[in-house]
Parts: sequence; structure tokens; C-alpha cells
Amino acid sequence: MRKRIAVLASGSGSNFKAIMDAMNSFGVYEVVLCISDKAGSYVLQRAEEAGIAAFSFIPKSFETKAAYEQEIINHLQQWNVDYIVLAGYMRLVGSTLLEKFEGRIINIHPSLLPSFPGLDAVRQALEASVKVTGMTIHYVDAGMDTGPIIVQQPVTIDEDETEPTLTKKIQQLEHEWYPQVIAWLCEGRLIVEGRNVHFMNKV
Ligand code: GRF
Repeated sequence: MRKRIAVLASGSGSNFKAIMDAMNSFGVYEVVLCISDKAGSYVLQRAEEAGIAAFSFIPKSFETKAAYEQEIINHLQQWNVDYIVLAGYMRLVGSTLLEKFEGRIINIHPSLLPSFPGLDAVRQALEASVKVTGMTIHYVDAGMDTGPIIVQQPVTIDEDETEPTLTKKIQQLEHEWYPQVIAWLCEGRLIVEGRNVHFMNKV
């Protein structure tokens, strides 16, 4: 049985597309739901075109963050979601959602964490004049991009690098690795011990 995935996103959804494109070749996960915190974000259009249930819930139209997240949980439960994949979801996950889906939420971030967490990670790397940055896929905890790291891949920063060129290089890696990590997650190959994530070759 394929595991059922919900993608939470705020933006264009290029990772959503990569996850969808690789879904049938891995054959172990199925994207069943897409939720955005921004009405009209392009990811929702991508989901609708792919025939995936798509909703936007706007945090400020709820009285509390807990109420906002409870509405998300209602949908996750209605769609029998096993795992949550954050793909450009520009918001901290609160305790309501974290408690319900403990150990079942992952995120992708465009830097080698713990360097450059939070917003504008690509720009932060350029401004710091580092020579190497990259992308990180990690479990989500209550902090800002602080959960146990699953995979990291480096990208070399060239002399003439700009934010768009560097973003493009990082996103190529993201699109290659995120579907693979989701497949490992769904196959039960990822074992978390404290902050360490081990990979099991055989399940
Ligand atoms: C990605 O670079 C991801 O690392 C970050 O947000 C971006 C989302 O891009 N968390 P997209 O919406 O998948 O194109």
C-alpha cells in the first residue's frame, strides 16, 4: 500500500511538481492533498491540474494558530494522510500540528543547515561570501529549520554567482533528492535516534 502524502506549500511548487513527477517510478507514495497558507499560490493550480485535492487556509482568518492548524489536521485526517511534506511552506509548524504528526513531517531548505536557517537562505549564503552552500532535507521540530538532518547535498558557489543562478543550482538538487527521501521515509528506511537519522538498506 502506498503511503499517503500531503504537501504543504506557500509558493510556486517546483518541488511539488518534482514529487509528483517521480511518484509512479518510486511507487511507494501517493500525493493525496495539497494545502497552502496563501490563496492563489501557483502550487494550488499545479495540484488542481494534477487532480489532487487542493485547499488554502489563511492563518489570519483564524482566531489562533491552534485553530488554523486544527483545520489543517481535519483535512489531513479526512484524506488519511500518513506523512506531511513541507515544500516551501513559509511558516513555523506549531505544536498543534507537530503533536498530531510527531516524527511524520519533513522539510527541505536551500542551505547546508545549521548555516543560514530561515528566510532568504540563498541570499544569506551569498552575503556571507561562503564558497559552498547546498540543500538540506530534515525532520521538522518546533524550531526554525532545526530538526534532525536526513540528507544534505553541496553546491559550489562560483565567482560570478547571482541569487537566481545559485537558486537554480540548489533547486536542481532539491528536485532530485526530495522524491528519493520521501520514498525512503515511506519505505520505513529512516530511523531517528535523537538528532541522528540512520538509513536502513533493507526493510
Ligand atoms: C525551495 O527552495 C525550498 O528549499 C524552500 O522553498 C523553496 C520552495 O520552492 N523551503 P518551490 O515552491 O518548491 O518552487
